[in-house]
Amino acid sequence: MEEKKIRRIAVLTSGGDAPGMNAVIRSVVRTACANGIEVLGINHGYSGLINNDFRKLTARSVDGLLQRGGTMLYTARCQEMMTEEGQQRAANNCMYLGIDGLVCIGGDGTYRGALALARLGVPCIGVPGTIDNDIGCTEYTIGFDTATNTAIQCIDKLRDTMQSHERISVVEIMGRRAGHLALNVGCAVGAAAILVPEHEGNFENDVIEKIRQGRINRRNHHIVIVAEGYPMSTQEVADRVQEQTGMDTRVTILGHIQRGGAPSARDRILATRMGNHAVLTLLAGKDKRIVAVQHGEIIDLDIEEALAMKKPLNEELYQAEQSISI
Ligand code: F6P
Repeated sequence: MEEKKIRRIAVLTSGGDAPGMNAVIRSVVRTACANGIEVLGINHGYSGLINNDFRKLTARSVDGLLQRGGTMLYTARCQEMMTEEGQQRAANNCMYLGIDGLVCIGGDGTYRGALALARLGVPCIGVPGTIDNDIGCTEYTIGFDTATNTAIQCIDKLRDTMQSHERISVVEIMGRRAGHLALNVGCAVGAAAILVPEHEGNFENDVIEKIRQGRINRRNHHIVIVAEGYPMSTQEVADRVQEQTGMDTRVTILGHIQRGGAPSARDRILATRMGNHAVLTLLAGKDKRIVAVQHGEIIDLDIEEALAMKKPLNEELYQAEQSISI
């Protein structure tokens, strides 16, 4: 059978935004243009696809995008795309607009949308863009490095004031149900304790005893990191810490500040490589893939297989942290 020529593709961002999404869009658009392919930018994620909200993108319309946080295409969590009716409307619009391939940048919800469209005949390629780094098939998701650095900068500032007041700072880090971001941030700020959903552990040993030991070793302030997916709320953690240690304790929820800012070098470079790979994957005639990084190489995998993969916490880092936070 003769392979269908790709004349026009579309790109969208969906789910929570992540620094570096714009860099992926730029790379997709420029790679397509270099191969004589037209590009439509779909606004507001899948909701834009369902409602025909799009604009034409050219090599020049993505100038100055590499260093910008957020997503120029806007993003949304689209309930309608979870229904068969919404999926069919999105697929019909793709046919109507002559879209020969769709690049979907986001996390696992985004890939489920892409899989549904692929099953309805729209070739789709997913690109991992989420600060959570919780996608099983890839070592890295765009935005993780920038979010880690943003959180580190904030906590370094917190440490100054905690040290002056001899307090404990309990800081909540995003990550949905996973502790990857919290673990990395906790390691990089030298936290006394890191609470992640993957290790519900023993609160007394993992937190209180660590702080007591630290005080014996003349540490006058402490940082406790709590992943947002940890089963105990951050306020509860702080209340227990204050009660059991007698030290003045403050809560900081970094929240959406972690999703903003100019992407780091790592995010810009991987975004460029992944966006380029996504378009080349469509050009190679593949239709249901996710771009991933494994052992530093950019590869692509079947979406269904990729969705079934779990991402374990970096146990080596977790155990190292457990032993050195004294
Ligand atoms: O998936 C990215 C993320 O920032 C998670 O870490 C967090 O749980 C969620 O999105 C927050 O979503 P929203 O922006 O809808 O509040």
